[in-house]
Amino acid sequence: MNAHPGNDLIVAPDDDGIAKGALLMDVKNVSLAFGGVKAITDISFDVRKGEIRAIIGPNGAGKTSMLNVINGFYTPQTGTITFRGHARRAMKPHHAVRQGIARTFQNVALFKGMSTLDNIMAGRSVLMKRNIVWQMLWHGPALAEEIEHREKVEEIIDFLEIEHIRHTPVGKLPYGLQKRVELGRALAMEPSLLLLDEPMAGMNLEEKEDMSRFILDVNQQRGTTIALIEHDMGVVMDLSDRVVVLDYGKKIADGPPDQVKADQAVIDAYLGVSH
Ligand SMILES: Nc1ncnc2c1ncn2[C@@H]1O[C@H](COP(=O)(O)OP(=O)(O)OP(=O)(O)O)[C@@H](O)[C@H]1O
Ligand SMILES: [Mg+2]
Repeated sequence: MNAHPGNDLIVAPDDDGIAKGALLMDVKNVSLAFGGVKAITDISFDVRKGEIRAIIGPNGAGKTSMLNVINGFYTPQTGTITFRGHARRAMKPHHAVRQGIARTFQNVALFKGMSTLDNIMAGRSVLMKRNIVWQMLWHGPALAEEIEHREKVEEIIDFLEIEHIRHTPVGKLPYGLQKRVELGRALAMEPSLLLLDEPMAGMNLEEKEDMSRFILDVNQQRGTTIALIEHDMGVVMDLSDRVVVLDYGKKIADGPPDQVKADQAVIDAYLGVSH
């Protein structure tokens, strides 16, 4: 299934036992308010294994808030998230990572003084089993594990074509490359669901094309399910299998890109028509 033979080193995260096209995550009746501000109102949608699911909508629609609920950063006042068969309302972000949910942020959140390599390695640390005491007591297994992690990180660096910046502090990199490093850090967690909050924001056309290609490769080669927030409609229509549209915290449309594009409520929302 590998379209690019050079990239076939990366192992597919196939351990969740869910068949392609089956339900991976079910968001049911989720509402989230900050004081009087209703960020999300009674939203339900699902994500199927292996798809690229876009979440779109005008500024302030509640898209980032939705990702923050999914990865456990916020606890919604109502509703449940069922992921890989386990229902929950709240979960700490590091538990979300252990369950297979990784994300990138709308504003790049990397360790700016650290190198590309170390930032991606940091993503790996959540999967590391052996701690520092163990390393001191018995160097052998810990060393073997360290080598294994390094190899995975090298595969990701190779996959994302960022060898040339492996030792560069990420704060010195152009924005487009920082976004790519952040994708690398999320991939290092070997997620079965990858959440991307505006992965192409602030990029020029060429950078957008590169990022689109990487997102597609991650999806097709690793089988990683992706939920993606994006404002560039061309990108959304090209990449996604299904689109959910939010406006003022409510869901106004849900379906394949062509259907959503032609939906009058969606057109009105983007033109700023009140409803
Ligand atoms: N931590 C917070 N405290 C208070 N209000 C918040 C907080 N986070 C989000 N909001 C509000 O919730 C609403 C939804 O915000 P959110 O960031 O989810 O929108 P968005 O769809 O991601 O917008 P954008 O496209 O601009 O990123 C907005 O009215 C926002 O001001
Ligand atoms: Mg946002």
